[in-house]
Amino acid sequence: MQTIEKDQDTLTFAKRLKYSTRTNHDSVDSLVMQSEPFANEENYRKFLRLQHIFHLSVAPLYQNKALQVLFPGLAELPRLSAVESDLNDLGLKADVDVSLLATPTDLYQAIGWLYCSEGSNIGAAFLYKETQKLSFDADHGARHLAAHPEGRAPHWRKFVAQLDALSLTEEQEALAIKGAMDAFAFYKKTLASLNS
Ligand code: HEM
Repeated sequence: MQTIEKDQDTLTFAKRLKYSTRTNHDSVDSLVMQSEPFANEENYRKFLRLQHIFHLSVAPLYQNKALQVLFPGLAELPRLSAVESDLNDLGLKADVDVSLLATPTDLYQAIGWLYCSEGSNIGAAFLYKETQKLSFDADHGARHLAAHPEGRAPHWRKFVAQLDALSLTEEQEALAIKGAMDAFAFYKKTLASLNS
């Protein structure tokens, strides 16, 4: 019997994004865990570099006027400055080889990248807890993994409602899903290059 979950047409756009990228997410999740980011400070430094490259890449999207119209409040969401403060807390410089960055230029693909970036804050609850082992917290070293002031769940629900209010065409939606997949692939590629 076919379950409703599997019938993509009955899902909301946000659910379709989740459904279409679940294997991409899970492979990123397991690769991050394999790199043991919380085993010691050195590994955590590498993880911070990875997060920095990802958040630096998506940062221009939060300033994009067209995206700000689609997602009111977007300008207040980026976590780049929190990642940079975390780097600073650990005595690391926030300089990056710009050739390592990737920022989508297509508006609809950018929606998928934003989904990936904002959703990463959901799983970050677990990651944030792990940073306590290294004595980092919301005021020192793990600022970018801390919950949004309104809490992770209300903030995520608001973003999901904004995604579901977009009413994209099939073609635009396909671009957004491609964007989300590209964002996960970019994260994975960056992780591999930092750990090689
Ligand atoms: C070890 C690393 C990670 C763990 C353990 C993890 C775990 C999780 C968990 C438990 C959820 C909630 C799933 C649910 O409610 O059904 C989630 C959601 C999500 N995560 Fe991760 N995550 C990790 C890394 C990442 C990274 C690096 C990204 C992006 C680059 C990411 C993107 C997302 C997205 C987009 C969602 C939202 C899924 C949805 O549509 O509900 N995650 N993650």
